[in-house]
Amino acid sequence: MSKIQAAITGVHGYVPEKILSNKDLESIVDTSDDWITRRTGIKERRILAKDKPTSFMAIKACEGLLSKTNTKPEEIDLVLCATMTPDMLTPSVSNIISKELNIRNAFAFDIQAACSGFLYTMITAEKFIISGQCKKVLVVGADKMSYITNYNDRTTCILFGDGAGAILMEPNLEGYGIKDSILRSDSEHGLDLLKIEAGGSKNPCSHETIDQEKHYIKQEGRNVYKYAVEEMFGASKEIMNRNNITSDDLAYLIPHQANERILESVAEKLKLPKEKVMITINKYGNTTAATLPLCLWDYESKLTKGDNLVFTVFGAGFTWGAAYVKWAY
Ligand code: ACO
Repeated sequence: MSKIQAAITGVHGYVPEKILSNKDLESIVDTSDDWITRRTGIKERRILAKDKPTSFMAIKACEGLLSKTNTKPEEIDLVLCATMTPDMLTPSVSNIISKELNIRNAFAFDIQAACSGFLYTMITAEKFIISGQCKKVLVVGADKMSYITNYNDRTTCILFGDGAGAILMEPNLEGYGIKDSILRSDSEHGLDLLKIEAGGSKNPCSHETIDQEKHYIKQEGRNVYKYAVEEMFGASKEIMNRNNITSDDLAYLIPHQANERILESVAEKLKLPKEKVMITINKYGNTTAATLPLCLWDYESKLTKGDNLVFTVFGAGFTWGAAYVKWAY
């Protein structure tokens, strides 16, 4: 009998209509379109309305995906959502998606691994599929970064945007789908360089934490940058080497979108031309768990069955990884 692999069989995305451009940011903090473009590659990002939660975007992405793939809600047997900005601590965004879309035969839970969340979640879904336990899995990446972004801090507020993307994953017996993956984390160096200090059980939200702006994301950008380049390159190289894939064999590298310069460095180290790197950061910024599915959504029409793809991520924790996927449609 052929080996079961987990394949991506559909993709859809959603971004809010409201655009926050670099020009708009010039009137909010001391920055310039030129600085942001040169240092990050970002031109604009999308911002969800204040009164709408992360699940709003996730539901839109999933609704589109179910309709596009002719999937009935009752066929879904697992819903997984990667997010670091859930509507509330509990219930999970996955449970809220299930309720709103009438998904009644599934179990559902969220995974939090910041910018690595989507890859971690996709690989978790893979395990449920190859074990034979699940047949149709909805894998979502959704983040409303605008609500944890400090618009007084020019070093972070230029980076983040809101968005959601979703993929359908199903068993495949013809050799398509996830072929290999590497998931890693380094809590030794990661804990202090990128974090949100308050709002959790260690430092619950209070007047004081809000006055001190401790419920916003903070990072030591320059330090994080170096780790991001090294680890995304290292994981991509390792997965390509152990599967005997050269840069020529690769259709696309699908990297987490934190900074276009990071993507350029990783591509250069892999000896990969820039045309083979999926890039959406210019129009969406860093949408955290949503960057990978939004890349797939944007580039879907350029993909063909059998394409070799390498996904790679880096995020808070630190967390990182890579996956080698043979595109299934
Ligand atoms: N506009 C103008 N000047 C700015 C801005 C701004 N928006 N932000 C910083 N500067 C200034 C700094 O104050 C500094 O000035 P100084 O030299 O006088 O001190 C100068 O620009 C250079 O600052 P750096 O921090 O060294 O700038 P850098 O080129 O490193 O870019 C950035 C900063 C974009 C944050 C970059 O470091 C980066 O992308 N880091 C990695 C981000 C990442 O990968 N995060 C992981 C994923 S996120 C997650 O997991 C949720």
